[in-house]
Amino acid sequence: MGTKNNQSSQNDIFSDIIEIFGIIFYETIKVLALLLTLFVNWAIKKIFKRDNHEPIELKDLKSKKCTKKPDAFGWQVKASKDFKEEDYDSTRHTMIVGPTGYGKTNLMTLLQDKVIRQKHPVVFFDPKASMETIEMFTNICENAARKVYYFNDFLDNKYPFNPLLDGNVDQIADRIVNACEWSDSYYKSVSISALKESIFYLKSRGEIVTLKKIVDLFSKREDKDKIQGLYTQLESACNSEFSPLINDESSNQMSFSRLRKENLWFLLRRKTG
Ligand SMILES: Nc1ncnc2c1ncn2[C@@H]1O[C@H](COP(=O)(O)OP(=O)(O)O)[C@@H](O)[C@H]1O
Ligand SMILES: [Mg+2]
Repeated sequence: MGTKNNQSSQNDIFSDIIEIFGIIFYETIKVLALLLTLFVNWAIKKIFKRDNHEPIELKDLKSKKCTKKPDAFGWQVKASKDFKEEDYDSTRHTMIVGPTGYGKTNLMTLLQDKVIRQKHPVVFFDPKASMETIEMFTNICENAARKVYYFNDFLDNKYPFNPLLDGNVDQIADRIVNACEWSDSYYKSVSISALKESIFYLKSRGEIVTLKKIVDLFSKREDKDKIQGLYTQLESACNSEFSPLINDESSNQMSFSRLRKENLWFLLRRKTG
């Protein structure tokens, strides 16, 4: 009897030990499977991240890496590789941000140089351009044998540009509406219909639509007080230092469609200070 009891308790101990090993083995496999999944995910990310457009995070900006290649624009922190000319996609929007002295202007000049050499049409808006920036842009264009047209209030070689030259009545009205500030939707719709009426009137008489002509028509309207807000905004744009350039009716005036068709260059600048 005693021997039988001993044997059965030994069996119990063995089966307990086997069960414990079974559990340990099972849990170990689970941990290994988890580690394997993490590794595979990491490896996939590492392999494919070269082609994606992952957003840059704050931790990426701590990277001290920079390119050693003289022909590269810089270092891509997400893709861990040089940022070369061919990596720049000019069909997407690009924002260059950084503190003063970090090379924003320099990078912009390099990107301009690239697209100008590729014969793409470029419109360069710079509300605070220095003479240095203008000269730099001009030099890039000259080196690539491209002609530059300047729209500004202070250089001698300025060129007329009528933003209202192209398009039908709705397109021209939309352009003005989008450039203005609106506070009230009723007032906005009344102003839009007055605007379209004036543009239609000018077009039906075969006249070139200019801001000055619209302002003149507005000034004669009996319902002028209902469109006072728009009238004031258009009048102040019309009386700006750009008035002779935007209201010019000569045959060589520039427009958005001519700009695209003729592959031309423009430098826009407002006088500052
Ligand atoms: N990639 C670069 N490598 C070395 N120096 C540069 C680089 N980019 C700009 N710099 C230098 O850094 C200074 C500031 O550049 P800049 O483009 O004017 O900066 P930001 O427009 O951001 O104020 C300039 O002296 C410029 O020559
Ligand atoms: Mg700068």
